[in-house]
Amino acid sequence: MKILIVGTGYVGTTTGLVFCEMGHQVTGLDLDDKKIQALKEGNLHFYEPGLDKLLQKHVAAKQITFTKDTESAVNEHDVIFICVGTPQSADGSADLSYVQNVAETIGTYMNRYKVIVTKSTVPVGTADLVRQWVSRKQTTSIPFDVVSNPEFLREGSALHDALNPDRIVIGTTSNKAKKVMRELYQTFTCPILETNPKASEMIKYASNSFLAAKISFINELSRLCDVLNIHVNDVSAGMGLDHRIGPHFLKAGIGYGGSCFPKDVSALIKTAKDHKLPLSILESVGKVNAEQPLFLLTKMKEVLGGDLKNKTIAVLGLAFKANTDDTRESPSLVLVERLAAEKANIKIHDPVAKTKAYPQSETIEEAAAKADAIVICTDWDQYKQVDWEQLKPLMNQPIIIDGRNMLDKDKLQRLGFTYIGIAN
Ligand code: UGA
Repeated sequence: MKILIVGTGYVGTTTGLVFCEMGHQVTGLDLDDKKIQALKEGNLHFYEPGLDKLLQKHVAAKQITFTKDTESAVNEHDVIFICVGTPQSADGSADLSYVQNVAETIGTYMNRYKVIVTKSTVPVGTADLVRQWVSRKQTTSIPFDVVSNPEFLREGSALHDALNPDRIVIGTTSNKAKKVMRELYQTFTCPILETNPKASEMIKYASNSFLAAKISFINELSRLCDVLNIHVNDVSAGMGLDHRIGPHFLKAGIGYGGSCFPKDVSALIKTAKDHKLPLSILESVGKVNAEQPLFLLTKMKEVLGGDLKNKTIAVLGLAFKANTDDTRESPSLVLVERLAAEKANIKIHDPVAKTKAYPQSETIEEAAAKADAIVICTDWDQYKQVDWEQLKPLMNQPIIIDGRNMLDKDKLQRLGFTYIGIAN
């Protein structure tokens, strides 16, 4: 099948490459010249492990091509995936202007029947809007169908997730479109759930919100565990052994971030408010998450004598999680901003993510030099491999605040470190 992917961000690019792996012919369309040029040359414009090799393979085989030519791209393809961003608006809702733009462009240029698929995370009711936006731009009435087909991949493991999904959700009322979608996904062995578009759109928000709720649940509980002197990791392990609960997304830490959970929780709350049905659980999920970096800050202040002014703090990790360069809504940045407000000297290290706002160290050693404390904010594997014995003499005070509960507390204490975890 020939597929057009509109929007070559990490969702669009990954989706396109996975379709290539399934034997389909893919075109990536983007208005950004630089992105298109880089992709044509087999270079990713974002960091995602494993994806660059797949890109190079399919570019070389001409299984995937990239273009800026919207009119020809729309004309030549019968299945079009909308994979553009839906950032958060000031009122918490999802900004659909990029989706609208794509839908109107398809309406303007379409020459024959099309299946238009929304992969972007879009609020309930967007499939109907896409239908209206496309129709409004048509000069002659050409039939088309709209399908909601949400993506469940995670940054950092995008390729694995997209190749091995737990489920595929196809939301459409059109039998013709259903047939096309089934054919498209015929090589996948996971369950395929067919629903109407609204249910499909809600499944995406409900899934992300539920995962965010699990994290906030364990994070809030970690504060109680902390005062009760209980290891929260033990509690997560014990809970996770119950199949009804499951072990995933119960890792207590500094809070969730990224371009999805914070935005999607807010957007669902906004949808509910618009219908005068407040979602009090989700409102608390967001509140607990906003507080969690401050819980870490309080613990840091306690161990450093109550005042952070002129204290040197080495922040290890800027990305919202490991294996990505994405710092959007990163809880690490929330903490860094609070440290700056407390007039601490901040030194940041991240193996991949970059900031211009604060001094950034090339190496962990450079960041740790003369530090009064190290705080781990991102669960990068390389922080587990640090030779702490060697690092200790470089520091002003051997204090580690482990915002991810990822280091060996006993070992660090044996080495003479003061170790502070999240109820750990
Ligand atoms: C999330 C979902 O997991 C994907 O299924 C979904 O497709 C994606 O959003 C999206 O909507 O596009 P992502 O934001 O890439 O994926 O990353 P996650 O691995 O879910 O992590 C989100 C945040 O939760 C990170 O800050 C992570 O560190 C944190 N987290 C995760 C915890 O604090 N504890 C956990 O136990 C798990």
